[in-house]
Amino acid sequence: LKSLIHEGSLTPGQGLPSSRALASDLGLSRNTVLIAFDQLRSEGYVSARPRAGLFVVADLRAAPPPAPPGVAAKPARLGGPPPFRPCQPDTRLFPLALWNRLRQCALRLHGPALLGYQSAHVLGLPVLRTQLARYLRDSRGVQCAPEQIAITSGSQQALYFIAQLARRRAAVLLEDPGYLGARDAFRAAGARLIPVPVDDEGMVPPALIPAGALVYTTPSRQFPTGATLPVARRLALLQAAAASGAWIIEDDYDSEFRYGRSPLPSLHSLDPAGRVIYVGTMSKVLSPSLRIGYVVLPREWMTPFAELRAVVEDHGPLVDQATLAEFIASGSFYSHIRRCRKEYADRLDTFLSTAEQLRLPLRFPHTDGGVNQCGRWLEPRAEAVWEGLEVPALSRYALRSQARGLVFGFTAFDHAAIKAGLRRFAAMLGSI
Ligand SMILES: Cc1ncc(COP(=O)(O)O)c(C=O)c1O
Repeated sequence: LKSLIHEGSLTPGQGLPSSRALASDLGLSRNTVLIAFDQLRSEGYVSARPRAGLFVVADLRAAPPPAPPGVAAKPARLGGPPPFRPCQPDTRLFPLALWNRLRQCALRLHGPALLGYQSAHVLGLPVLRTQLARYLRDSRGVQCAPEQIAITSGSQQALYFIAQLARRRAAVLLEDPGYLGARDAFRAAGARLIPVPVDDEGMVPPALIPAGALVYTTPSRQFPTGATLPVARRLALLQAAAASGAWIIEDDYDSEFRYGRSPLPSLHSLDPAGRVIYVGTMSKVLSPSLRIGYVVLPREWMTPFAELRAVVEDHGPLVDQATLAEFIASGSFYSHIRRCRKEYADRLDTFLSTAEQLRLPLRFPHTDGGVNQCGRWLEPRAEAVWEGLEVPALSRYALRSQARGLVFGFTAFDHAAIKAGLRRFAAMLGSI
């Protein structure tokens, strides 16, 4: 009836058929028709005249209702990553049954309040912040109070907020090549980006940091080259930052995955001057779609950070935060990390031994950890597209750097997929 009115087939002043007649014409119950008539009246399409029935109101043809959106025949299926997309954990290792059990525990423990607005906790659920403070102290040497931790929607949100809060600062020094997510966040905030060279030992610490600048770095495993920053460079960087009043942002995105050796303590743990902002994430160690990251902030950053977060999305999904707190408190987090570490170490072995068997003209200089392997060409090569694979060139992450190579993610793929992917890669390499 609405369409007929909009099209003008039912004209202003025209009467609707009686509910009885329409019900019988359409084979519907009279109640259904009466409900529809009532709805038309309440939306203002028709008005009632006493003892005469319902009549179409003034001309509505000028305002046709919007066409319903096209409905896709089938919703698109979610897909896994193609080999060797960088930075992907294997989500098939996610302990789903246990997670669901802990989720129920969390809901029972906190009660219905967990489902309400909890704006007092804009920086995250206190139990999770407490658990994280413990984890960071024990595993990464980060000494902080739970109140200094803010939970964010992935570490990307932490980087974005830091960039926004620091927008009036002089400059941002970034590793080159480096992480695009950080570069995009600072660029979006209008920062002046200064590339800092990276060599086989990671970031080359600048002798002089402009006063009040920000320095973004990935010391545990430089992204994307994989180099670990030696302690002398860490100290030089901290000294330069303290001298110029700069802040260092330490992005510790995959330090849980060290194979064969223990991880170096965080840069944060070496910093007596309190100039390091430590950023971490559950994306590699658990699941990227959880969107749970965290940042350890200096005390003076807490209030502005909380204010900004409150504007954007209050506190984020608390059921997941509560479940994660249970997951860490129960010890399952640590066993999950151990399990993934072992599996990923095996996959790395398969990756490296297959690359060797296939005599790929690449060397892999940093094979002691992480979720990616950066391969350096043994001879100059033109950039190419690797059909069916996702192997970005190192140049994709460069600002000014001329470094040549490829970045392979290996953690999300089982042994057979790694071997098949590398064979495919080798075949394409032969045809260039
Ligand atoms: C250097 C670096 N930092 C952080 C992240 C994680 O981002 P998020 O926590 O937003 O998923 C990644 C993921 O690829 C990364 O490579």
